[in-house]
Amino acid sequence: MIRRSVLLGTGSALPAKSVSNAELAERVDTSDAWIRERTGIANRYIAGEGETTSTLGTQAARAALEAAGVDAQAVDLIILATATPDQTFPASATKVQAALGINDCVAFDVAAVCSGFLYAVSVADSMIRSGAANTALVIGSETFSRILDWEDRTTCVLFGDGAGAIVLGAEESESGERGILATKLHADGRHNQLLYVDGGPSTTGTVGKLRMKGQEVFRHAVTNLASVLREVLDMASMNADRIDWVVPHQANARILDATARKLGLAPEKVIVTVDRHANTSAASVPLALDVAVRDGRIKAGDVVIMEAMGGGFTWGACLLRV
Ligand code: UT7
Repeated sequence: MIRRSVLLGTGSALPAKSVSNAELAERVDTSDAWIRERTGIANRYIAGEGETTSTLGTQAARAALEAAGVDAQAVDLIILATATPDQTFPASATKVQAALGINDCVAFDVAAVCSGFLYAVSVADSMIRSGAANTALVIGSETFSRILDWEDRTTCVLFGDGAGAIVLGAEESESGERGILATKLHADGRHNQLLYVDGGPSTTGTVGKLRMKGQEVFRHAVTNLASVLREVLDMASMNADRIDWVVPHQANARILDATARKLGLAPEKVIVTVDRHANTSAASVPLALDVAVRDGRIKAGDVVIMEAMGGGFTWGACLLRV
């Protein structure tokens, strides 16, 4: 028998307030045309008072549990990926746990910025396959608007807030056909200064603001993403033509196009939400996944590949059959 982590349900949550490029251009020296042309972004959601990483994460988790038909009390593992936790500690995962009324389970945060959800999925999958967990909530949730420098037009137009979540359950079968087939993670800490936050508890004692050398990140992103996608396909002995859907990190429509082209994947197979959500860091992959599951594109039996790259640098991919 093969024990695998299978996808039981997805959910997502967005702040109440949406902000268009035109609205942003009223307070930042930018234009709708520049943002659309260079990034594909038209809109983003910005958290308001009372909306935090844990409240958005809890909402997404509730939606995923409902879609999965799983009672919160069955959850024995919560991993929340974020770079914008409610507090430096405790982990935002424990706030979600408390909000869901779960009194005892494993709960922790993962910090791998935009790749955080892929890191969290990979850890949850390892724990499920080893028998350390049976039912996992894996969440990506961010309030990046709170670490943006709103005077820096080269970064503040690119990001948005939101959350996505999935429920993974253990399943044993003869074929092991369904579930997570392969995951691969990478990090290369030499690139810290290309994408980072200029503060932290142990350095400045402040939260800090996001800084990015966009062009260099762009260049690394296309190369690293194409290569990690090939790695997970090789691990599962699968050809790229078997992929039904690509659910990529939503940083820039041009990165999505360039990565798909490198792998010879048809653009119609790529789930794109960067136009409406902008870059929501660790939330972007599960948010896009939930959109495509709920609108009926991603169905049972489909082969889905997810990928992300972010600060660190960190990057990773996950191949699963729904
Ligand atoms: O999630 C983690 C991963 N992050 C990414 O993958 C982001 C990767 N990078 C990118 O997506 C792109 O590099 C950006 C969207 C950040 C920038 O696009 P670009 O085509 O690389 O533009 P650029 O940085 O070369 O800037 C071109 C011009 C500059 O003006 P000059 O020097 O040519 O006169 C900028 O000052 O565009 C100017 N510019 C803007 N103009 C209007 C930069 N930001 C803006 C803006 N509005 N918001």
